Amino acid sequence: MAHIKAVKWVTKDKRRKGVFWPSEAMKKRAWVSDPGIYGKAARDQVAFWAARAEEGLEWKKKWINAYEEKKKPGAFKWFLGGRINASYNTLDRHIRSGRGGKTALIWVPELPDETTKRISYEELHRDVNRLANSLRRLGVRKGDRVGIYLPMVPEVITSLLACARIGAIHSVVFSAFSGESLKDRLIDAEAKVLITADGYYRRGEPKTLKESADIGVKGTGVRHVIVVKRTGRKIPWNKRKDMWFHEAIKREPDYCEPQFVESNETLFILYTSGTTGKPKGIIHDTGGYLTQAYWTTKWDFDLHDDDVFWCTADIGWVTGHTYGCYGPLLNGATMLMFEGAPDYPDPGRWWKVVADNGVTVFYTAPTAIRMFIKFGDKWIRKHRLDSLRILGTVGEPIDEEAWLWYFNKIGQGRCPVIDTWWQTETGGTLINTLPGIGPFIPTVAGLSFPGTRHAMLDSQGDEVGTGETGFLVQKPPYAPGMLRGVHRNPKKYFETYWSRFPGYYDTSDGAKRRKDGTIRLTGRVDDVMKVAGHRLSTAELENALNEHSLVRESAVVPKPDEIKGEVPVAFVVLKDESKASEELKKELVKHVDKAIGPTARPSFIYFVSDVPKTRSGKIMRRILRGIVKGDSELGNLTTLMNPECVKVLHKTVKKG
Ligand code: PRX
Repeated sequence: MAHIKAVKWVTKDKRRKGVFWPSEAMKKRAWVSDPGIYGKAARDQVAFWAARAEEGLEWKKKWINAYEEKKKPGAFKWFLGGRINASYNTLDRHIRSGRGGKTALIWVPELPDETTKRISYEELHRDVNRLANSLRRLGVRKGDRVGIYLPMVPEVITSLLACARIGAIHSVVFSAFSGESLKDRLIDAEAKVLITADGYYRRGEPKTLKESADIGVKGTGVRHVIVVKRTGRKIPWNKRKDMWFHEAIKREPDYCEPQFVESNETLFILYTSGTTGKPKGIIHDTGGYLTQAYWTTKWDFDLHDDDVFWCTADIGWVTGHTYGCYGPLLNGATMLMFEGAPDYPDPGRWWKVVADNGVTVFYTAPTAIRMFIKFGDKWIRKHRLDSLRILGTVGEPIDEEAWLWYFNKIGQGRCPVIDTWWQTETGGTLINTLPGIGPFIPTVAGLSFPGTRHAMLDSQGDEVGTGETGFLVQKPPYAPGMLRGVHRNPKKYFETYWSRFPGYYDTSDGAKRRKDGTIRLTGRVDDVMKVAGHRLSTAELENALNEHSLVRESAVVPKPDEIKGEVPVAFVVLKDESKASEELKKELVKHVDKAIGPTARPSFIYFVSDVPKTRSGKIMRRILRGIVKGDSELGNLTTLMNPECVKVLHKTVKKG
């Protein structure tokens, strides 16, 4: 692919160190370069989003009412009565406007000698329609749930859009999660069908997946399993349930009438970790979600027709849904998907992918950036990165060193770094800097996306002053992409997001507003960890450990980590202390792999005889967090039932 001539998209602020602004070239090209957009959108947020929904998407029937908020907390709707289909908007619309031949997806396999696939909008449309017909033939109807447990192969995009085409609800489960995790989610979602693969490649090796999928579907309501052939390995096969993906779609017609749904009907459910032992099924609607996905992709990444957009997130996370599927495809863009590990066959692989495919917009997580810093600059120098125009980051706070390295080494000082804050619950980005407006400042996410408002509160619910850290909340009207509920658990929906600060959406993040109005995120304020950008709950991990027959109880806390941001540390109290051994530690790690998946593996396990507790028996994780960080000052210990254990724990951790 021809290289785009490197252009300076940013300029340095001569008065303020470490502050950058868009260059004239960037401003000229950008969809939005007038900061007045914020004020304009704020004057009537509903009208702003209604105009966006109308301009960005094609509706079968226009809505009657753009926004409605009931008295009940969290009960809001967008585009009431509007009828829309997500697959029509991501595919048919572009084909009708003559862009069917454009590449929708560049798929780069992990094995370096395997050929990259380029799939056009027409080709994707054909496969989506065939699979949609096949799902219908299997009895999947509007509102039914389909589980998707796939690695990064093109069929994952086909699967999401095929569900959307017939109004079925997809629920993707990260392929590195265990069969047991899959099962929990399939049961909760009451899925009828599962789409999975025989395996995938990681670091050149074929890995199994079907075996975990089989564990996952056992004892659930899943009646059919559609299997993508990726590795061709021999896999267990259940004739009554299983069918190959390629065979299922082979004989199906190339067209399937899209099912237009009411805007507020569910497009997907995505499970995410909270503060309890069970993940929550976050519900996203159709019209509101698509509106936010469309516009945040277009404006945050300043996406134009000639861009090649690569979001490195796995489809198992919300970033993969919004910026690795819906957002770019709604915009008729060319997006890239890479199957494998970033350092296979060498740590220059990602940069080779960028250079070979002329990637212009690149979106990744701070953890990946920190890992590349460790690998050393020589891996970057081997590849021409002149095509890059915009860089994005997401998932965890980015430190100054990582930001500047990303900016200087990957962006060669030419490309803005867009730090995007958002959550599984928000559906799309909400706090960030628009590339045509700026400023780009390391560790500062930016402003609330036009048409949304945030505040930082103290524990009484009053707004804190500039420069003070508070609880980050969103003010109404809530962004159209916001979650609409927790699947089968309205109580949890209310308690988690709407009860602590009445009248606001509670993000569970801390943040502070700077003098210039921009926002800096300070991290989670609950018991959710961000391990390599992946969201994990301490309670979920504790549940898994406590299930082991030798464990009496456990407490898990995050420990700061140079590369992963945070890693889980487990304090384990055994039923019989004499059983403590290195072997048992390994067994517990295996146990976690089985219960949740390797992403949840504790980095350190300490066998202890007690963990700090309040007089009512609640584990004081705050103290454990301090201990793993090596803080000598742990605050008031008098409220503890067992203050004597703190000294012992300090010693245990020091010893390693
Ligand atoms: O703590 C915030 C952090 O990630 C959390 C949401 O995680 P998840 O639902 O997995 O979604 C991640 C991808 C959208 C948030 O509550 N987070 C996300 N982006 C940032 C961030 N923290 C700081 N800066 C960010 N840009």
